[in-house]
Amino acid sequence: MSAILLAVAGMDPKPWETSLRSRAPERDLWLWPGQVGDASDVIYACVWLPPHGLLATFPNLKAIFNLGAGADHLLADPTLPQVPLARVVHPDLTMRTVEYIVLHVLMHHRRQRHYDAQQRDRVWRVGGQPAANEVAVGIMGLGTIGGAAARSLAQIGFQVAGWSRTPRLIAGVQTFHGASALDPFLARTEILVCLLPATPQTKRLVDLALLRKLKRNGSAGGAYLINAGRGALQVDADILAALEEGTLAGATLDVFEEEPLPATSPFWTNPKVTVTPHNAGDISPQVFAACVLEQIERCERGLPLDNLIDRMRGY
Ligand SMILES: NC(=O)c1ccc[n+]([C@@H]2O[C@H](COP(=O)([O-])OP(=O)(O)OC[C@H]3O[C@@H](n4cnc5c(N)ncnc54)[C@H](OP(=O)(O)O)[C@@H]3O)[C@@H](O)[C@H]2O)c1
Repeated sequence: MSAILLAVAGMDPKPWETSLRSRAPERDLWLWPGQVGDASDVIYACVWLPPHGLLATFPNLKAIFNLGAGADHLLADPTLPQVPLARVVHPDLTMRTVEYIVLHVLMHHRRQRHYDAQQRDRVWRVGGQPAANEVAVGIMGLGTIGGAAARSLAQIGFQVAGWSRTPRLIAGVQTFHGASALDPFLARTEILVCLLPATPQTKRLVDLALLRKLKRNGSAGGAYLINAGRGALQVDADILAALEEGTLAGATLDVFEEEPLPATSPFWTNPKVTVTPHNAGDISPQVFAACVLEQIERCERGLPLDNLIDRMRGY
């Protein structure tokens, strides 16, 4: 017997189960919790936020497939089995996240929240508007998603730069890398986009000191922040302080230190903040099923898996 385990927390597992079953009806699929038989039969695991310790209970596991891009939750499990761990890399996930980034960069650039407030008050007043090519956007993280977002924003005309761990070359994008290049990258950035993975090196990176190094956006008086990476990258209280003192003119936050965002959080009611429930990126269950089954076939043919997470690097 060789079974695939589907262990999904925090969202409805049904669409994922349906897609896997319809694409591979011949395969034995077990849905955790509940439909799990002999643990030694489980060879592959498809997971999202599984409880720490769960995967260690399957002694014959050969590979783990994460339903999303970021595997920080898995890597934080001290009992995670030492088997290949792959993430999903697919244009479906990339482009949905790029849509989110473009939407929110443009929302801040075009001061849409200001016009929403005017509409509420029935005010007809035209404000000044810089061209995109007068505005500097900086993207922290130039990987699959950050790189694609940089290209899309450059095409619109923004002055785009990106910051990564190792050197990256992207046509039309100014690139910076390494800790020593962070300050010059921040000094030229008016709209900061975070698309970094959560690792020990990036944890709590976006704090008040970092935000104060950003260039003030001319028309708004402060810079803008968009975090669609991970909540662990930021210090929530420092973002609120930066908004309060005017260092930030606005922020879009898809991720938070604590998720779901508690009902008592001041982010919910701050007029300068747009809150979304960690849904910047999404992947369709059909696409995920196709990717995973292809990876399993690779495994069965003795080929290496694609899109492996490097445990030492942390992403
Ligand atoms: N909110 C959502 O719904 C959502 C959806 C999808 C993804 N995400 C998040 O977005 C993250 C990025 O996704 P991705 O697919 O683009 O990841 P990726 O391809 O692994 O790219 C990660 C990027 O971050 C850079 N990086 C990592 N550590 C760094 C450090 N210490 N200093 C500077 N740069 C560093 C990497 O540098 P190198 O280029 O040098 O390797 C790379 O450019 C994911 O890890 C996930 O947490 C969130």
